[in-house]
Amino acid sequence: MPPGVRPPRPPLEPPRESQPRKGGTTAGEGQEGGFPPERGFMCGIVGYIGFRNATDVLIDGLRRLEYRGYDSAGVAVKTPQGLRVVKRSGKLSALEAALKEEKLEGPLGIGHTRWATHGAPTDPNAHPHTTEDGRIAVIHNGIIENYLELKEALKARGHRFSSDTDSEVLAHLIEEKYRGDLFEALREALKEVRGAYAVVAVHQDHEEIVAARTVSPLVVGLGEGEHFLASDVPALLPYTRKVIFLHDGDVARITREGVEIKDLSGNPLFREAVEVDWSLEAAEKGGFPHYMLKEIYEQPWVLENTLGGRLVEEEGDVDLGLELDPLEVDRVHVVACGTAAYAGLYGKYLLEALARVPVEWDVASEYRYRDPVVDERTLAIAISQSGETIDTLEGLREARRRGARTLGVVNAKGSSLTREVEAVLYIHAGPEIGVASTKAYMAMLAAMAMLALRFGRARGTLGKEEAQALIRELKKLPRLVEEVLEKRPLIAHIAEKYHQAQDFLFLGRHVQVPTAYEGALKLKEISYIHAEAYPAGEMKHGPIALIDEHLPVVVLATQGPLYEKTLANIQEVRARGGKVIAIATEGDEEIRKLAQDVLYVPQVHPLLAPMVSVVPLQLLAYEVAVLLGRDVDQPRNLAKSVTVE
Ligand code: AGP
Repeated sequence: MPPGVRPPRPPLEPPRESQPRKGGTTAGEGQEGGFPPERGFMCGIVGYIGFRNATDVLIDGLRRLEYRGYDSAGVAVKTPQGLRVVKRSGKLSALEAALKEEKLEGPLGIGHTRWATHGAPTDPNAHPHTTEDGRIAVIHNGIIENYLELKEALKARGHRFSSDTDSEVLAHLIEEKYRGDLFEALREALKEVRGAYAVVAVHQDHEEIVAARTVSPLVVGLGEGEHFLASDVPALLPYTRKVIFLHDGDVARITREGVEIKDLSGNPLFREAVEVDWSLEAAEKGGFPHYMLKEIYEQPWVLENTLGGRLVEEEGDVDLGLELDPLEVDRVHVVACGTAAYAGLYGKYLLEALARVPVEWDVASEYRYRDPVVDERTLAIAISQSGETIDTLEGLREARRRGARTLGVVNAKGSSLTREVEAVLYIHAGPEIGVASTKAYMAMLAAMAMLALRFGRARGTLGKEEAQALIRELKKLPRLVEEVLEKRPLIAHIAEKYHQAQDFLFLGRHVQVPTAYEGALKLKEISYIHAEAYPAGEMKHGPIALIDEHLPVVVLATQGPLYEKTLANIQEVRARGGKVIAIATEGDEEIRKLAQDVLYVPQVHPLLAPMVSVVPLQLLAYEVAVLLGRDVDQPRNLAKSVTVE
């Protein structure tokens, strides 16, 4: 496997509801075992070569991918006047307005909607990116981890750049490798790239589209005298249902006559075409019945993105690129709401354990009114998926007014919060469509763990060897989370058993307290069943009065320093007839004697147990909600981002 190209991973078990129907021919049946849960940044890619006006096909296709979230858009079309590019920040309407001014007519083109990762959502940062002579245009989804070193080397060789993006280096790399064969130039260029990508390129002198994928998805649509390319099936459905899902490491050349696929070394590959019989709605969810389930299954990939390229194991450190000196900080205030607040509580435990820095934790709606004690050596960390939550924004503003330093831990690039803090740690979870947060929470946990490690190393409270051990454990997380996802059938069985309960209680200790809070929140916000969470040690101080045979008690009982104490709590519940659903570490036979049901998660460093433990709780909430017929993606009364007080 060439350097930088992730080994192809067998797709996860397809979700039960969307298992391909036997006998019919449905998308993914030609794949290993069913729907490959398409991971990858949610940007939109569309390519066309044939006899229609490419601009119409591209805009129509990008519109069908709008649900994926984006903040700029652009097209490159081969016109009689040469290769022309029109791109604009903002929504597709801005691009269409520009195309009314500058009509692009031609039978070959590529189009892109961008979810910004490197570089704000501006016109120059929008894709496609071109070479200085405008003869090559490139679009890209994903993250090029080594783009800075590539960009510096290219600049040293005389290339001039017009954007802040990592993607633009691909155009210049392909240009350098081009000796008349665009397909070969792409392969040669990608041998120097490390990271996740779906990349598509065209050249003014060639009647073809070349493309490659590693991690970020790409699908080829097969027509008569015309062929298509897209980052997701919905863009193809109006034109063809016969598709080829490219695999990690594939490189393709698409012409009017057909598709040629090779690996990076130039060895020919055969990929089976499949007939997609998904409805458009199912296609937008990648074959999953709900965005929430798709996003739960994306978590291994999200963890790779959040962690990817930032872990420096040989130094026992992380590279977060933050212009913030931990030695200028004496205390931390966490400011966040809901799920993000629970990620912040997890961060408190880790920052205090690894960096010995005192952390005050509060939900933002309380923080902003409690007259907090703040000075210039206080760091206010605002955590937010949307970056638009008004309580979090106002809490941060209150801290800043009082002299605090400010850091944002954010998903949405260019959101309000990112413009109001000194530094931003992006979690790179990609757009999260389901109202109930799952993959963003996972990414926040990973981000807070890395922040705590960085602070510990900078403050000298965390040794190199201990940090290296933690980093090795962090690197295991994507695979460990995938292992937990494979236990979904058992989780569905437990959901079946308890979905009629009127109340649930979630208990945890130490870093598993935020996991308990998050598990309770997931269940109540999508199933509407009352669920509350407590530190397990608090149960005797009141909640134990609730215990009876009707109350399922979910206990986070993974291996760690407080395992025995947690077992004692489970015994207290059992002694009063309570029913215990335990989340436990694989191999723990002791827990079986006490709990009615046990959901095992893989062994991992106790401080990282929340990353594997939250997944069964997400799936439990999901399965219960489906059994109760709830609107999983759009639960009643909820908004994805609470932007009003
Ligand atoms: C979580 O599932 C909820 N959607 C909600 O609690 C959410 O986490 C909260 O509103 C904060 O949103 P933010 O991360 O976008 O700031």
